[in-house]
Amino acid sequence: MKASIKSLFENPSAAYDKSFQVAGWVKSLRKSKKFAFLVLNDGSCFQDLQIIVDADLPNYENATSVSTGYCVKVEGKVVQSGGRQALEMQASSVEIVGTVPEDYPLQKKSTSLEFLRENAHLRARTNTLSAVFRVRHQLCMATHDFFNKKGYYYIHTPIVTASDCEGAGELFRVSTLNAENPPRTDKGEVNFSEDYFGKQTFLCVSGQLEAESLALSLGGVYTFGPTFRSENSNTPRHLAEFWMVEPEVAFADLEDIAALGAEYIQYLISWALKHCPDEIAFFEKQYKEGLVETLNHVVSSEFKKITYTEAVEILQNSGEKFEFPVAWGSDLQTEHERFLTEKHFNSPVIVTDYPKEIKAFYMKQSDDGKTVRAMDILVPGVGEIIGGSQREDDLEKLKKRMQEMNLPEKEYWWYLDLRRFGSAPHSGFGLGLERAVMYITGMSNIRDVIPFPRFPKSVEF
Ligand code: 4AD
Ligand code: MG
Repeated sequence: MKASIKSLFENPSAAYDKSFQVAGWVKSLRKSKKFAFLVLNDGSCFQDLQIIVDADLPNYENATSVSTGYCVKVEGKVVQSGGRQALEMQASSVEIVGTVPEDYPLQKKSTSLEFLRENAHLRARTNTLSAVFRVRHQLCMATHDFFNKKGYYYIHTPIVTASDCEGAGELFRVSTLNAENPPRTDKGEVNFSEDYFGKQTFLCVSGQLEAESLALSLGGVYTFGPTFRSENSNTPRHLAEFWMVEPEVAFADLEDIAALGAEYIQYLISWALKHCPDEIAFFEKQYKEGLVETLNHVVSSEFKKITYTEAVEILQNSGEKFEFPVAWGSDLQTEHERFLTEKHFNSPVIVTDYPKEIKAFYMKQSDDGKTVRAMDILVPGVGEIIGGSQREDDLEKLKKRMQEMNLPEKEYWWYLDLRRFGSAPHSGFGLGLERAVMYITGMSNIRDVIPFPRFPKSVEF
């Protein structure tokens, strides 16, 4: 019977004395005269399977000619192990499926994360990256479970769009025009009316605007998909293509959505601790001392909540030397965010009520005329993990803000319609999935938590 290594370890006593076929990639081989120890991993779980190959196996020499990276199929009886593992396998046949020449990049000696990035097509075979990708999978499952249980509908917002949701101009153009010789208007400008969609189009930076439309019909929704930003940020926290989870909720205000964000992060952590204990233990040992304790603490404690104005005061009074100056009105830089969440609070922190000048057009304007009902959630080691807000639901105020920000009303006619026809207070946020994976695994570079990272000048795989 075919079995995954995971299924064997899930219920060892049920597997004892039965025969199974497993298939995977060789981690190592230790050979002696009478038998060999083959360590196999199939990616299904963190644990490797120890396989004992007896010298009386008919193809013993061939079977034990394998080395790290070989793909093999093994049949054998599962037995209780004398060692630390719950079980091992006594091979009755070993078949080589795929061999490995000497230039295999992932030899047994430990390899740096930088080196693995250059071999992204193979790196999921390592303990670290396979563990990351299993945690990533579980966080996606947790996301659906969390919002589904709340009665929010999973919707799909478009990837090709004509509008810049964040107004930050970080768009990747989508076009079928001939790049070398595009059609021109009388004025000599590129004639996008001849482009595929009849106007300029881009990859989405967020699904929020469309999610708002569905929240104002279905009540609570969430969209979860790839988003694209051409920001020139060569940092360990930015990708040009990342996955974002965006809930949007009708009749929710800023306080509601901030509480939802905190609860969601706690849910993700609890889920990972429950479903990936071996992986989290590995990250603790290999990458981040104290990880388990920190995660447990975050699950059971309330998130700190401060206003942007309070954050600025804390930073100004901190005595800390920052590269970027802190002044009311300028955006918090990563170093500021990290000071707040890592040094000052040493816990996740929700920052609310930012100056309107540094935030997007759609955020709900406060009566003070200076701030908007925005919130960011910052976590240690990562900085901003969630960005969200209550949305402006007053048509006139929204139109006025768009004029101030030079956003053409006619491009957003349908978005404005949502305020003309049965407008309702509503709020939402976006969580960067990769930032969540970083936070929960303790990995410090975003390029190591997505299988094939996209960043400036890099699209190899
Ligand atoms: O704060 P942001 O830009 O918010 C929005 O896009 C809103 N429209 C979301 C909403 O309200 N529905 O992005 C949200 C989150 C950030 O907090 C961060 O976790 C992640 O998306 N993010 C990135 N992750 C990786 N690489 C990048 N370049 C990212 N930019 C944002
Ligand atoms: Mg943000």
